[in-house]
Amino acid sequence: MLESERLRLSQKIEDLAAHYHYHRHGLLPILQAIKSNHNHISDFAMQEVARLLSIHPVEVYGVVSFYSFLSTKQQGNFVIRLCRTISCCLAGKDTVARQLENELGIAFGETTPDGRFSLSWANCLGMCDQGPALLVNDYVFTRVTAERVYNIIETCRRSFGVSALEGKDAINNHSEVQSNVKTNLSHGVFSAEDPDQGLRAALKRAPNDVINMIKESGLKGRGGAGFPTHIKWELAAKAAGGEKYVVCNADEGEPGTFKDRVLISDFPDLMLDGMTIAGYAIGAQNGIIYLRGEYSYLKKNLYQALARRRSANLLGQDILGKRGFHFEIDVRLGSGAYVCGEETALIESLEGQRGEPRNRPPFPVNTGYNNHPTIVNNVETFALTTHILSKGPAWLKQQGTKLSIGTKLFSVSGDCQHPGIYEFPYGVTIAELLKQVGGEDAKAVQVGGASGRSVPRSQFEHTLAFEDIPTGGSIIVFGPQTNMLQVAKNFLEFFNDESCGQCTPCRIGNVKLLEGVELLEKGKCSIKYLRELQSLGQTMQLASKCGLGQSAPNAFLSITEHFKDEILGKIHKTVEVEEGGTHP
Ligand code: FES
Repeated sequence: MLESERLRLSQKIEDLAAHYHYHRHGLLPILQAIKSNHNHISDFAMQEVARLLSIHPVEVYGVVSFYSFLSTKQQGNFVIRLCRTISCCLAGKDTVARQLENELGIAFGETTPDGRFSLSWANCLGMCDQGPALLVNDYVFTRVTAERVYNIIETCRRSFGVSALEGKDAINNHSEVQSNVKTNLSHGVFSAEDPDQGLRAALKRAPNDVINMIKESGLKGRGGAGFPTHIKWELAAKAAGGEKYVVCNADEGEPGTFKDRVLISDFPDLMLDGMTIAGYAIGAQNGIIYLRGEYSYLKKNLYQALARRRSANLLGQDILGKRGFHFEIDVRLGSGAYVCGEETALIESLEGQRGEPRNRPPFPVNTGYNNHPTIVNNVETFALTTHILSKGPAWLKQQGTKLSIGTKLFSVSGDCQHPGIYEFPYGVTIAELLKQVGGEDAKAVQVGGASGRSVPRSQFEHTLAFEDIPTGGSIIVFGPQTNMLQVAKNFLEFFNDESCGQCTPCRIGNVKLLEGVELLEKGKCSIKYLRELQSLGQTMQLASKCGLGQSAPNAFLSITEHFKDEILGKIHKTVEVEEGGTHP
């Protein structure tokens, strides 16, 4: 690097560090900015960042190496990331992959000799209803075909008539990008509210009354775990310490889930109103939206919504004339790490750390972001909060079951006629849902994404509810021809990629399960070894540190349980006796 370039980079890093007050929590956005401008993060850049934030360069390297969107290796001006997760596989990702390799003359993981393009795999991009999907830098292309690959790459190539940076921006204005992502809203689905209806209702009450309304409504978190929302809010409201935070988990990384994407793009005020209501209820002045890096194209939309709210005094000082109630919302971007959807990993990430889950207790409601009391709720949960405040707690109770109150947004993809987003009351059966989406001939349905379970046809009368089959909303439909072992393999590849590696059951267990599936594929796994793998999966469920490791074997276990005949057929090809066969 020339001395003049070093000086420029150094000055840029100094400016960025100053913007974040030389605080560690600025580490991730600083690294994102360097990567975006220089196509990699050099040793020199890491040392400069470390010096300015007063941390060791090894810590900076630890963070860079954790996130898949950061890189110490020089990448091309255009990084093309093709989704390789199951819904995009069902939609024909292999053909697109071959075309990309042919067109660019490189394999996945490589950069073209002229330094213009890098080709990379991505895990679910949240476009599962319109796959195959790929990202070019920050911009999403959906329903990609082999023919469209040529157009996309040509657009990037043509943009090199201008400077490299402008060239990158040229892709944003491409007509394909502008009209690319479809909302696909079907059946019910949230109505748009006035942008302040819930908040106005909340401000007429005392903060404690707001929490009581949430309690009365029976609202449970919509991220999947179903924890009662009011308990988090109550604990955070009572927690000692002046500074408190409201964090919106918009890191929707579960394969097959994309409903938050649509809430953010089409109904941002529902979420922002809900966050502001939460701020009022718990006594927080700061909100942070942790938006997954794959959705960075939504940032512009969010900033516009935030600006509108500021000018309408729905954010800022003395909101809507309520003296002493100040609240602001910031947007922070993830950098391609599924585990950051876990709330403590998300907080670590916000603090500029590797996104590794924390031991609990202490819980975030007491010791959260920068050790301050923090509530973390899902986008859909905040959106419902707004409705509850404006319509009253009884509104939510009109639908659902006794233990699962209200409706739920489902993201439906895979082998069905009408993929998209559907709102159903809790308690809907899988069969009813399949009828609506045109997936009646399904062989199985994956409920809850990679971390959920495969439900066979014989169990389609089961209901989607906390007391039966709980889900954060991902529904992937598998048609009669689906090879279920390939499904298990795809999910295990996902977890091998996404495990943070912190605990042994998850780090090693996922590798062993994947190796086992590969043996099954070849018909070289004995029944005895299959049983050992199932037992290993159960151990992972019990012994892994966080939800990722605990749920990683779910798909493997449910597939080997419910599709035994399909899988045993493979075993019987080469292994006739129970004790025989390959035993690694
Ligand atoms: Fe490809 Fe979700 S976008 S599976």
